[in-house]
Amino acid sequence: LNNGLGMTPPMGWNSWNHFGCNIDEKMIRETADALVSTGLSKLGYEYVNIDDCWAEISRDDKGNLVPKNSTFPSGIKPLADYVHGKGLKLGIYSDAGYFTCSKKMPGSLGHEEQDAKTFASWGIDYLKYDNCNNDGSKPTVRYPIMTRALMKAGRPIFFSLCEWGDMHPAEWGAPVGNSWRTTNDISDNWESMISRADQNEVYAEYARPGGWNDPDMLEVGNGGMTKDEYIVHFSLWAVSKAPLLLGCDIRNMTKETLDIITNKEVIAVNQDPYGFQAKKVRMEGDQEIWAATLSGYRIAVVLLNRGPVRYSATARWDDIGLDPKTVVEARDLWEHKTPSTQFVGNLTVTLGPHSCKLYVLKPIA
Ligand code: GLA
Repeated sequence: LNNGLGMTPPMGWNSWNHFGCNIDEKMIRETADALVSTGLSKLGYEYVNIDDCWAEISRDDKGNLVPKNSTFPSGIKPLADYVHGKGLKLGIYSDAGYFTCSKKMPGSLGHEEQDAKTFASWGIDYLKYDNCNNDGSKPTVRYPIMTRALMKAGRPIFFSLCEWGDMHPAEWGAPVGNSWRTTNDISDNWESMISRADQNEVYAEYARPGGWNDPDMLEVGNGGMTKDEYIVHFSLWAVSKAPLLLGCDIRNMTKETLDIITNKEVIAVNQDPYGFQAKKVRMEGDQEIWAATLSGYRIAVVLLNRGPVRYSATARWDDIGLDPKTVVEARDLWEHKTPSTQFVGNLTVTLGPHSCKLYVLKPIA
C-alpha cells in the first residue's frame, strides 16, 4: 500500500499468541517497558500491537468503539501516548465483519470511516484487520473500504490484512494493505510452523517494499518447540521477509529466547532494503535449500533438515543463481563466524534433526 509504511517488514510484538483475550493496559505498558529494557526496541522491534478483545461488546450511543472498562479503564489514547513516549508505536485490531473472531467485541464493517478516525485520533500506528463474522461478501470488496478510510484518517497507519490466505490476498493485496496473511493461525509446534512457511513460500514473488506476505506471528519463546526448531522458525521468517512480530511474554524470557530474537545478522537479512522473499531452490527428501538475493551482491541461503535424523545438505551455486566458478565467502549467521575456507560451486553442511543453517554468501572472485 502506497502510504509510505512497511518499506521493510514490520517488527514488534502482538498480544495474541501468548495471551489470547487475557489482556489489559498494565500488561501492554509493561510490554512496552520490556521492549526498551531488553534492548529489543534498538534492534527495530517497534510496534506494540493489541490484538482481539480490547473493546466493549457494544458501541456507545454515537456508534463509537469503546475500550473495555474492566481492562482498559484509562482508554487507548493514554496508552498510545505512553508507548510513543518510549519511541515505540501502538497497533490495534479490528475485523471486516460485524464481530471479531472472539465474538467479544464489534467489528468495523459498516463503521469503517468512523473507526479509522477513532484510531487516528487515539494515535494508532498499525491496524490488524481480521475477516470473521462478515456479511458473506468478498474480502476484495470489504478490505479496500478500510484502506480508503485509513488513507483519509489523517495519520499514517500500517494496514495488516488478516484474511488467512483463502482468496489469495498476495494477488490483490499490494494496493490494499502493507501485509497480508497467507495462512491460517499458527500454533506453537513444528508441523504448524513449517507448514505455514511452506504455504507462504508459494507467493514469494509478490513480496516487495510496502507489501509483505505474512505467514502469521512468531511463536519463539512460547515453549512448544526445541531451540533448533525455534531457530528454523526465526530463520525462515527472516528470509521470507515476514513481519517479525514477537508472540511471547517478553517481560519474562529465557536467555535462549532472547539470543534467537536478538540475532542482529538474521534481523538484517529480514530488513534488507531489496525486500526479495526467499524461495525453495531445491527439495530432496527432508533436505531443502531456500535462497534470496540480498543487496550488495550477496545471497541468503537456508540449508534445512525437515526430518528426524541427522544428515548432510548441499547448496549448489547452480540452484541459487551463481556461476559455478564463483568463489564466495560464507558467513554463518547463527555461529557468527566466517570460515576461513572459501567455497566454489557448492557448500555442504551437516544438520541435526529439525534444524537449519543460515548463511550469507558474498562473491569475492
Ligand atoms: C483470528 C486471527 C488471529 C487472531 C484471532 C483473534 O483467528 O487469525 O491472528 O487475531 O483471530 O480472535
